[in-house]
Amino acid sequence: MNDKVVIVGQSIQIQRVLTLIDKLSKTDSTVLIMGESGTGKELVAKMIHQKSQRGEKPFIPVNCAAIPSELLEAELFGYEKGAFTGASTTRQGRFELANEGTIFLDEIGDMPLHLQVKILRVIQDRSFERIGGTKSIQVDVRIIAATNKNLENEVKEGRFREDLFWRLNVVPVVIPPLRERKEDIPLLCDYFIDKFSKKFGYSLKINSQVMEIFLNYHWPGNVRELENLIERLYVLNDGGTVSVEDIPERIRFGENLLPKAVSDDLNPFSSGIDLNEVLRDYEKKLILHALNLNGWVKSRAAKYLNINRTTLIEKMKRLGIKDNENFD
Ligand SMILES: Nc1ncnc2c1ncn2[C@@H]1O[C@H](COP(=O)(O)OP(=O)(O)OP(=O)(O)O)[C@@H](O)[C@H]1O
Ligand SMILES: [Mg+2]
Repeated sequence: MNDKVVIVGQSIQIQRVLTLIDKLSKTDSTVLIMGESGTGKELVAKMIHQKSQRGEKPFIPVNCAAIPSELLEAELFGYEKGAFTGASTTRQGRFELANEGTIFLDEIGDMPLHLQVKILRVIQDRSFERIGGTKSIQVDVRIIAATNKNLENEVKEGRFREDLFWRLNVVPVVIPPLRERKEDIPLLCDYFIDKFSKKFGYSLKINSQVMEIFLNYHWPGNVRELENLIERLYVLNDGGTVSVEDIPERIRFGENLLPKAVSDDLNPFSSGIDLNEVLRDYEKKLILHALNLNGWVKSRAAKYLNINRTTLIEKMKRLGIKDNENFD
């Protein structure tokens, strides 16, 4: 693989993931990476591969959700000439292409049950047959799988084989959503700004007000959403400083208001919620919404919230909302 993988983050959660990657890259064990969409699952898989002894060998990704199930089997295991109509030549599957390297089974939660049996066999004896073939093929591959589903639930619902789940879940790597590690947001912004500055040939700055919005947004699309937003800002501005007006309203007010309770509900890896934290989070979001809506003029924001200006100031202090010097 050519480009060296970089994983940015200073949060304890990401530091833990990096430590785990180091350990895993020294072994050949099967890895299951779990996390919401856009949290960096493929990045983690690539880094484990790159740092491992297999690093110079192929890294072969297979997106089990993107390939129609009737084609997935041929894609994974290959086929012999004449195996079915249209099989005019013998073709190797991705397991064979990944020989000596790593296969990355992305969105494994979407793999049809009849193929799960075959995957189980590859994990157990590293062997399989091509479609239409009788000869057993041996491969030397490391298996890394990823999912944004809660596989334990899938097992309970009968959509995922329990034996395969345990085989995959030897060492789970859980990547927390961006909203649970907001201290990574400024670093990620710097990283993407640097990346897009090189690509676009000019630089953008983000002021503290915009950063405050970023820190309060709940990023349902995680790091990918942040990366896409910064790229969009580059397309729409040709240098200078990004201002609040450049940020889509959806991010400024809209989904900002989704209470943490709701977002936690949507998070399949959450085991429960902390009521006080949820209420505090919601209060902070409503106050920021009021401030943004009223151009950070506190008297107007207080009126909007039907509270006194002094109460608003107290709450802002308590909730760690920085006063914006430029306003009011
Ligand atoms: N910690 C990070 N540091 C730098 N870039 C990151 C980080 N996390 C994610 N990214 C970037 O965000 C984008 C999404 O990451 P990736 O494709 O690995 O996520 P994913 O979990 O596989 O998402 P999906 O479930 O949608 O497939 C990529 O462009 C990746 O480079
Ligand atoms: Mg992915």
